[in-house]
Amino acid sequence: MSPHYAHHRVQILNGGRASLIEDVKMPVHMLTAILLCLSPTWRILTPVSSHPRHSQCQLIQRTALCNHCNLSSVPAGLPDNLEELQLNYNNIQTLQSSSLLGYPSLNTLSLACNRLENLESNTFQHSKLLKNLNLANNNLYAGCQESSHALKTLPGLRALDLSENGLEDDMVATLLQNLTSLEYLNLSGNLLQRLDETSFVDLHQLKELDLQKNIMYEIDGAFDGNPMLQRLNLAFNYLPCLTDFHMTQLVVLNASHNFIEWFIAGQDLNDTFQLETLDLSNNKMLFFPFLPNHSHLRNLYLSQNSISFYEHLADNGTFPNLTSTVEFYNMKTYTGNVTAQLWEESLHGDISSLEILDLRGNQVDHFPKGFIQKMPALSRLHMFTNCLETLNLTSHRFSGSLYELDLSNNRLNQIVADRGTLNALGNLTYLNLSLNSLEGLPSGLFSSLAGLRSVDLSYNNVDICHPEEADPCTDNSSTWADWKNAASLTQLYLKGCNLKIIPLSAFAGLSLTHLELSDNPGLVVHQSIQSLSRTIRHLGLGNTQIQDFEFSHLQSLEYLSISRNYLTHLPPSLLNLDLKVLDLRDNRLPTIPPAQANALASKLHTVFLTGNPFNCCQTEWFRTFETTKTINMVGRSDIKCKDLNQLTYRVEKSHSFFCLEKGGESFIWYILLFVPMCLSLVGILIIVWLTFKPKMLKKSIKKNCLMPTSY
Ligand SMILES: *[C@@H]1O[C@H](CO)[C@@H](O)[C@H](O)[C@H]1NC(C)=O
Ligand SMILES: *[C@@H]1O[C@H](CO)[C@@H](O)[C@H](O)[C@H]1NC(C)=O
Ligand SMILES: *[C@@H]1O[C@H](CO)[C@@H](O)[C@H](O)[C@H]1NC(C)=O
Ligand SMILES: *[C@@H]1O[C@H](CO)[C@@H](O)[C@H](O)[C@H]1NC(C)=O
Ligand SMILES: *[C@@H]1O[C@H](CO)[C@@H](O)[C@H](O)[C@H]1NC(C)=O
Ligand SMILES: *[C@@H]1O[C@H](CO)[C@@H](O)[C@H](O)[C@H]1NC(C)=O
Ligand SMILES: *[C@@H]1O[C@H](CO)[C@@H](O)[C@H](O)[C@H]1NC(C)=O
Ligand SMILES: *[C@@H]1O[C@H](CO)[C@@H](O)[C@H](O)[C@H]1NC(C)=O
Ligand SMILES: *[C@@H]1O[C@H](CO)[C@@H](O)[C@H](O)[C@H]1NC(C)=O
Ligand SMILES: *[C@@H]1O[C@H](CO)[C@@H](O)[C@H](O)[C@H]1NC(C)=O
Ligand SMILES: *[C@@H]1O[C@H](CO)[C@@H](O)[C@H](O)[C@H]1NC(C)=O
Repeated sequence: MSPHYAHHRVQILNGGRASLIEDVKMPVHMLTAILLCLSPTWRILTPVSSHPRHSQCQLIQRTALCNHCNLSSVPAGLPDNLEELQLNYNNIQTLQSSSLLGYPSLNTLSLACNRLENLESNTFQHSKLLKNLNLANNNLYAGCQESSHALKTLPGLRALDLSENGLEDDMVATLLQNLTSLEYLNLSGNLLQRLDETSFVDLHQLKELDLQKNIMYEIDGAFDGNPMLQRLNLAFNYLPCLTDFHMTQLVVLNASHNFIEWFIAGQDLNDTFQLETLDLSNNKMLFFPFLPNHSHLRNLYLSQNSISFYEHLADNGTFPNLTSTVEFYNMKTYTGNVTAQLWEESLHGDISSLEILDLRGNQVDHFPKGFIQKMPALSRLHMFTNCLETLNLTSHRFSGSLYELDLSNNRLNQIVADRGTLNALGNLTYLNLSLNSLEGLPSGLFSSLAGLRSVDLSYNNVDICHPEEADPCTDNSSTWADWKNAASLTQLYLKGCNLKIIPLSAFAGLSLTHLELSDNPGLVVHQSIQSLSRTIRHLGLGNTQIQDFEFSHLQSLEYLSISRNYLTHLPPSLLNLDLKVLDLRDNRLPTIPPAQANALASKLHTVFLTGNPFNCCQTEWFRTFETTKTINMVGRSDIKCKDLNQLTYRVEKSHSFFCLEKGGESFIWYILLFVPMCLSLVGILIIVWLTFKPKMLKKSIKKNCLMPTSY
């Protein structure tokens, strides 16, 4: 499968100084070099330390783990046969000449996430065995002259991570001088702007280069000196185009998230390109990339561009003066112009090995004649969100290896295919036609596709055959979905298809495990689901206005959605099922009776309950679910209830609403009786007190009212 890099969790344009690395995935051969900031997990390891002086470091065989130790220098006194030293997440600012003297056997040194500015020039003079050096996330921009001298003394260095160090073009050139044995280099998250043939000129052995998340706008012959380079990551930069691409040895090129309008491979090369994976997603391309004439390209990712096909405009009298070539110039010189013949049919290059073609989020409204046919190995085609209006499977001749076809969210109103064509698609397993304007399907679609397992027809106007009626499926079959003989089908999604009635025997003979019927308001399901009782595990009946559905026979059901259905109580038949997930959102439930809550809590793993008008005075069910550790109440802090005064509270915060348990009204009566009684008692006491102490009364009257006056 295609390689995965850590996602864009790391902020680039902060000068590369303050970011944390959360997740690092690496090809295995480089693993040691980059096992950097994952150190919290390391701390769990049992220490085998024989050096109490450095109890903060953990020794495991010949590896010392001193991550997160607040160190400001390399600890001395570790065993001198040490081979790996990890000092990630410390406060080391300078790597001093003497610091590694005691560890001549070191082959891996990791100093990621320190405050490193400088490597003193003699630091590595005795570290002749050092192969992997990780300096990610430091401040090496500050002292790169001296650091470069230090690196020059490492002729055997294989892997170097300089990511996130605030490095600019000239600093990188300085640091990389003479590193002739380097095989892996990470420069991601720096401040590189422009690369040319001098940038990596000494790195003859380089195999993998990560230049993600810089601010590069031009690359001019930068990799001509790296004949071994196989994996190149240019993602998240500002490149406007990649023209005259002639790196025949490259296997993986990732140029996603740039501003690329053109990708043009060198057309004059007769060599076979080794390229297998090309990622140009999230760019600004209008044309399908102009791929090499000969290549082994297997994975082509082009999602989120503006690609369309224009070949029908060529050789066409309509636009006689249409420009047919583009020329490219670069910043430095005007040499090496690249000219592309825009409208030529052969432009797409060699796509004969293509297995994955991802065109999601483009402007494709048709496939050129013969285009699909050129991909005999195609197994996944992703066309989500394009502009396809019709698709003639017969004329395009998809290959028998097609496994996944996603045509969702287009403007398809028609799909044409004859039975022979469909029979040939024996490997097609997943077909997504949702979010189109389909009114019908080719006849025999389901019965001819022998391997079909999952079909999504949601949000179309497809209706279901009524086998018991006068068989409309055979005469005007194309407007009806008929899966009578789809033996392999297990997942059927029919959301929002405007379905009104599901015929009694609609699912007879099928072994569906997933059935989605949500968003068909007023749907009459009858007993049609009965025939699936043995197999069905996932059932969606949200927004169908169902009320008392009889679930008890669906003994395999694990997932049920009955959200948005105006339910005022749970269908009792639910309680006998072994449900794992239950979606009850947006109904009218005032409560869940304790017996039901207990029954559900013992089985469910996940429950969705938000959007119900729960009664604050009947929330025992909430405590039941809350105290059951095995159940996850999704969005639990958003579950709300209303009290007697119709005020809304979060059920979670039961202390914030005053609720009278059952019989609350009589409690109010108690209060109403008590208050006057207390008041009269107090009155009586005052009178009694005053009558027994009349003098006091007089005195106080005298004191306050009859003050002697001085006249
Ligand atoms: C290309 O790089 C981006 C960003 O790092 C990543 O999300 C994507 O998965 C990579 N593409 C491939 C094919 O590995
Ligand atoms: C390069 O370094 C960045 C940040 O440190 C990391 O996310 C990325 O995975 C590294 N690239 C490779 C190929 O290891
Ligand atoms: C580095 O390479 C240059 C030529 O590129 C050479 O003149 C110089 O001697 C080398 N320095 C070391 C230390 O190998
Ligand atoms: C390209 O190579 C093929 C063989 O791989 C050869 O038959 C053909 O003549 C070559 N074409 C050119 C233009 O060199
Ligand atoms: C590659 O294909 C282009 C377009 O068809 C053609 O002009 C060029 O001659 C081909 N190059 C080689 C070496 O075959
Ligand atoms: C010529 O171009 C027009 C405009 O796009 C198109 O409708 C027509 O089908 C084209 N004709 C041929 C012969 O391709
Ligand atoms: C096309 O070009 C010719 C000569 O180059 C010119 O006479 C003609 O007016 C142009 N047609 C259009 C539609 O621009
Ligand atoms: C590139 O194009 C410019 C402008 O058209 C031209 O002057 C120059 O000679 C071309 N260079 C090459 C190498 O073709
Ligand atoms: C689909 O393509 C086939 C073969 O090219 C052709 O015979 C048929 O007429 C096409 N159907 C439609 C509806 O265009
Ligand atoms: C299905 O794919 C396999 C290889 O993945 C291939 O051998 C087989 O011929 C394909 N089936 C059809 C009907 O093409
Ligand atoms: C079909 O495609 C739509 C739109 O991309 C997506 O939401 C849906 O989950 C897909 N269906 C299946 C079964 O994967």
